[in-house]
Amino acid sequence: MFQINENYLKLPGSYLFSNIAKKVAAYKEANQGAEVISLGIGDVTQPLAPAIIKRLHSAVDEMADAKTFKGYAPDLGYSFLREAIVQNDFKARGVELSVDEIFVSDGAKSDSGNIQEIFGVDNKIAVCDPVYPVYVDTNVMAGRTGAYNPQTERFENVIYMPCTKETGFAPELPSEAPDLIYLCFPNNPTGSTISKSQLQQWVDYANKVGACIIYDAAYEAYITEEDVAHTIYECEGAKTCAIELRSFSKNAGFTGTRLGYTVVPMDLKCKDVSLNALWARRHGTKFNGAPYIIQAAGAAVYTEEGKAQLKEQVGYYQNNAKTILMGLKDAGYTVSGGVNAPYIWLETPNGMTSWEFFDLLLEKANVVGTPGSGFGPSGEGYFRLTAFGTYENTLKAIERIKSI
Ligand code: MLT
Repeated sequence: MFQINENYLKLPGSYLFSNIAKKVAAYKEANQGAEVISLGIGDVTQPLAPAIIKRLHSAVDEMADAKTFKGYAPDLGYSFLREAIVQNDFKARGVELSVDEIFVSDGAKSDSGNIQEIFGVDNKIAVCDPVYPVYVDTNVMAGRTGAYNPQTERFENVIYMPCTKETGFAPELPSEAPDLIYLCFPNNPTGSTISKSQLQQWVDYANKVGACIIYDAAYEAYITEEDVAHTIYECEGAKTCAIELRSFSKNAGFTGTRLGYTVVPMDLKCKDVSLNALWARRHGTKFNGAPYIIQAAGAAVYTEEGKAQLKEQVGYYQNNAKTILMGLKDAGYTVSGGVNAPYIWLETPNGMTSWEFFDLLLEKANVVGTPGSGFGPSGEGYFRLTAFGTYENTLKAIERIKSI
């Protein structure tokens, strides 16, 4: 008789956003005609920018002509895109990387889930609490954690780094040295971030204890403050201790189109084994490359036209973030985030639990958000709203929240 991967049985319930989608669908079914506004999952609402659409169309036409048709993409990504990434996302910020250090993928969610595969199963992970659930769940699936403890709402054999109001929603260096450290700045879900010098402390720490940082920089386009690093490689020594995950979803609207990339520096080694070579081996074996038309569209992000249009698009969502932040403050809520990130983190009123507040908002305001406790026990009593809605719906949602 075959056996299953029993690690999956350690996972309580379903994936957070699937769970929320089911609840919302059930509510809509029971309340036909209810005009529900979703500020829950961080999914964009603005169409792809004209420069991207134009390139998408021309790339589709190329596929219709035998002379320009493309079959399998190079498994690590087309060099035109990897080159544009190196120049624009790194060189322009004073960071030298080579094209061979960039691995194009179908998005940061897959990369953030898959990257753990190149590490030993006995490695101990450290995660922020609250945390983007993919980091933890994929390590559970891989057998890198112990059982789930329903009392503590934590998995055994995982180092949790509480990010609370008291810590300014930033993690503190753990007392027990981890092997892998997941960091996401600007942060999902709290919308907070840390300064470049604070990030430098993490890099120094990782180099000192021999840990590898998995750095999720999916939200870097939302940084507005000067002393915040756009990439971990702005920190000295990061190339020997950090992998960076990047996305085209939040800066360019590719949530449905799927494109991302991972940086694995050549200098990142475990004894004399190169992690770059391991990830290349993994990518080559399990992935046939992001589609040509999508990579071509991705390269349009880095054209002058694309950059100008995306600055405006990110600005649109930043304005939503400000609208939510100010609106909720006016209404007496305690809120944070939203300045360097598209997420606003609010304290639930009157000691309500995160899920109680979720139900209240859904029923009384027809607004969907994400319960903080879904991201980990330190998120209990908090709630996340996203700035990725339309401006009109964002305004309407805030008005409705104010009136309950
Ligand atoms: C979120 O809402 O946390 C994100 O949209 C999830 C993701 O990017 O996969």
